[in-house]
Amino acid sequence: MPRHHDNGISNPSSNPTFEDIDRQRRTLLKGGGAAFAVAICGVPMAMPFLSNSALAAPPPSFADVGPIAFSNIAPSTDDAVRVPPGYLASVLYAWGDPVSSGPAFKQDASNTAAEQALQSGMHHDGMHFFPFWNTAGAFPVASSTHGLMAINHEYTDDGLLHTDGMKTWSAEKVKKAQAAHGVSVIEVRHEAGGWQVVRPSNYGRRVTAASEIGMSGPVAGTAAVKTAADPAGANVLGTINNCANGATPWGTYLTCEENWNLYFVNSSKNMTPLEKRYGIDDKGAGYRWQEFDERFDTAKHPNEAHRFGWVVEIDPFDPTKKPVKRTALGRIKHEGAVTTLAADGRLVVYMGDDERFEYIYKFVSRYVCVPSNKEACAQLLDEGTLYVARFDADGTGTWLALEHGKNGLTTANGFADQADVLVKTRLAADRAGATKMDRPEWISVNPHNKDVYCTLTNNSQRGTAGKAPTDAANPRASNVFGHIVRWAERAADSAALSFEWNIFVQCGDPDLGVAAKAGDIKGEARKFGSPDGLWFDERGVLWVQTDVSTSVLNTGDYAAIGNNQMLAANPVTGEFRRFLTGPKGCEITGVTSTPDLRTLFINVQHPGETASERSDPDKPKLVSSWPDGAAGGRPRAATVVIRRADGGIIGT
Ligand code: FEO
Ligand code: CA
Ligand code: CA
Ligand code: CA
Repeated sequence: MPRHHDNGISNPSSNPTFEDIDRQRRTLLKGGGAAFAVAICGVPMAMPFLSNSALAAPPPSFADVGPIAFSNIAPSTDDAVRVPPGYLASVLYAWGDPVSSGPAFKQDASNTAAEQALQSGMHHDGMHFFPFWNTAGAFPVASSTHGLMAINHEYTDDGLLHTDGMKTWSAEKVKKAQAAHGVSVIEVRHEAGGWQVVRPSNYGRRVTAASEIGMSGPVAGTAAVKTAADPAGANVLGTINNCANGATPWGTYLTCEENWNLYFVNSSKNMTPLEKRYGIDDKGAGYRWQEFDERFDTAKHPNEAHRFGWVVEIDPFDPTKKPVKRTALGRIKHEGAVTTLAADGRLVVYMGDDERFEYIYKFVSRYVCVPSNKEACAQLLDEGTLYVARFDADGTGTWLALEHGKNGLTTANGFADQADVLVKTRLAADRAGATKMDRPEWISVNPHNKDVYCTLTNNSQRGTAGKAPTDAANPRASNVFGHIVRWAERAADSAALSFEWNIFVQCGDPDLGVAAKAGDIKGEARKFGSPDGLWFDERGVLWVQTDVSTSVLNTGDYAAIGNNQMLAANPVTGEFRRFLTGPKGCEITGVTSTPDLRTLFINVQHPGETASERSDPDKPKLVSSWPDGAAGGRPRAATVVIRRADGGIIGT
């Protein structure tokens, strides 16, 4: 849906250069670095059922980023996916495609709600490739030709989802919309004809806004999450607005509930302070679920909204296992949940809260992660400490514990206990004194040195009347193009309580001839804005995906930037190259690869979106017919497979 946009002026940062800090730390890491890299390389992939002694064979060794060698491509406004010469892009899994041996997609959108529940949901976002492992040899080997994909379906455009859009409205339409939300798990295999979804598959399944999902952690079973339908406060129906993601060392998927507030309406018009803080109002965003599913009316079911805004863990390898909402990770508008390991082996999860002036969080588990013990690992996400970041003007930062009794989170200040702190995570972070950021989206950890990068997509309101002023970490007023901040945890330990930070890049377009909007992008890409998706591959290349709001895409400041795109950056030199451009009206989001880096998967979300799409949902506006072409009709979000024609490593 149309997002935030504005014009911006710049206030260049005067922070010390990051490379100085980086060089020192690199020197410190030398020696033990190689073994470290191997251990970390295994982290984002599923490595289930392995004992610690049975270490996996090391993935391809990437001592450093090396050259990013593909040809930078030009911005594009074509209704197509463009990639550099020598690369091939093909569609793997589009909205409506069956998960397993389910019903086929009907281009007139006449599939029923029951059929939709067996098909790909709408508007793909974060995703992860979980390889199968071959354990026959001396070392288990992760497959780069066969695995499971978990894919988020962030939201629906009801104008496209139903044959007559929202001209009529019914319980069946609400059911279909709910079935088009959530997550897909699909089995994928590379065969002679390329990558295919395996059908039928014992793993293929959908988790939707109506699926049964458990709750765990400090909030589970407490009064705040008990409802008439679930007096135990332990079973939620559904997960919604699943935006970005993460994956655990023990091979499970983390899916994150972002703009969940938009589905709720308080029909009494008497919003509580907590509802206001999370953006629940008396209108909602037009999903109209409450008309046929009254749990989405908080006047009737005040606790239902407390059951959303969490990170949800799904085991893709066990379709019988119920997903679980992990409440220890806090209740925010979760963008993603990126995992890494601390120096002592504890699990660390980095998370952004994507809204203007919201915060960056991290969770540190109480216990050490032993990936071979899946049962024990399941509890790592239930016990630990949630922190929120404060970025100081001198280039240092502090992690503030959101722990009852600390940092002002006391009963006297309105926080009854730790469960209360977590339900009110945003209020707790306000009280603790966190730094208000320019919309934290994706976070990624550099596999070579543990530096952490976070996209701050934009904030048109920064420095405007009545809003927070600029600060060192958010230096541009009316920050229309956004930036990427990065930090180095003390001693390169992800569990550290302090860090040093700098701004990696300020986005913009130097050809506008306006210094405040020029940005400081190095390399041939020269221009891009609204960085959103962010991901380090195992080699250490930083991939950046953009989400310029459709309401400003290819107009005004964004006239020469083209459709949303994906770029590759060298984190050492800061140079960017444009790798991919998407079709009209889309956002590029979601990125994962096979362990050999020879196949890259990305998602094209909301192709064909127009600025007025949700305000006039009666009829779809077909400004795009991607991926099916004119003969098809309705544009469809889809997962795209990218390979090199010669089968080589992506980006080299
Ligand atoms: Fe769903 Fe913040 O992107
Ligand atoms: Ca996003
Ligand atoms: Ca975005
Ligand atoms: Ca999106």
